[in-house]
Amino acid sequence: MNKTILITGASRGLGLCFTRKYLEDGETVFAGVRDTSNPILRMLLEEYPDTLIPVTLEVTDSNSVHEATFLIGKYTKSLDIVINNAAIHNSTSFEILENANIDDCLPVYNVNSLGPLRVVKEFIPFLRNSSLAKIINISSESGSIGACEREKEFDYCMSKAALNMGTKLLANYLRKDKIVVLTVHPGWMRTDMGGSRAHLDPYEAACQLVELFKNINSTDTPIFIDNKGDAFMW
Ligand SMILES: NC(=O)c1ccc[n+]([C@@H]2O[C@H](COP(=O)([O-])OP(=O)(O)OC[C@H]3O[C@@H](n4cnc5c(N)ncnc54)[C@H](OP(=O)(O)O)[C@@H]3O)[C@@H](O)[C@H]2O)c1
Repeated sequence: MNKTILITGASRGLGLCFTRKYLEDGETVFAGVRDTSNPILRMLLEEYPDTLIPVTLEVTDSNSVHEATFLIGKYTKSLDIVINNAAIHNSTSFEILENANIDDCLPVYNVNSLGPLRVVKEFIPFLRNSSLAKIINISSESGSIGACEREKEFDYCMSKAALNMGTKLLANYLRKDKIVVLTVHPGWMRTDMGGSRAHLDPYEAACQLVELFKNINSTDTPIFIDNKGDAFMW
């Protein structure tokens, strides 16, 4: 039976590549985007009119996330996978501390750390209706405290470390429901965020990750992992 999957930040980059890959695999994708008139998504919709459902989803807005449950609820009461992929990494992040505007950090937390929580909070009933649900939070090696050698990017790194903690709390909470909860470093990818010098093609990264997620079917596995499934240092 085909799977039902919600992906946030599906307009471009890794989120769009996850969307394409899951559609190619015959799954039903609820593609969370801020602008459903996105031309690439419109083109995909012509190819997959029955299995791609664009959903307006602004992860900083609890009302928007709540509204998304009504739209998705018209199609299904069950979600097998939720991929919290939407994130921002502002250029101001690269300023040294003396030049940084600390107030600029707040929106980054709001999207990267709190966005996934808003989504999971609203979609828990859908996930509980799946026999083996998975919540995949797309994190980053930059959220690892143990492996950190940077001296800046406070907002982004701290937001991903907070996401990792949120993931661990969710994993503890949802273990009794047999919901797998992971926080995943996807690798350095050539996207708007990763830039053109990055190692990985985002579609190839998505293919690798989709295969990885397919093979994780127990709550008894490492929670913070890299794109090969190896445990990452918290
Ligand atoms: N690229 C890398 O090398 C790299 C490395 C490690 C981790 N990651 C992580 O991988 C994930 C995907 O990154 P990417 O490189 O694909 O990023 P990207 O190309 O910058 O795309 C970011 C996506 O997030 C969406 N988004 C941003 N703010 C949002 C909000 N408030 N509400 C809803 N959607 C929002 C964007 O939508 P709009 O089009 O509407 O702006 C876009 O779809 C992120 O979690 C990122 O932190 C990336």
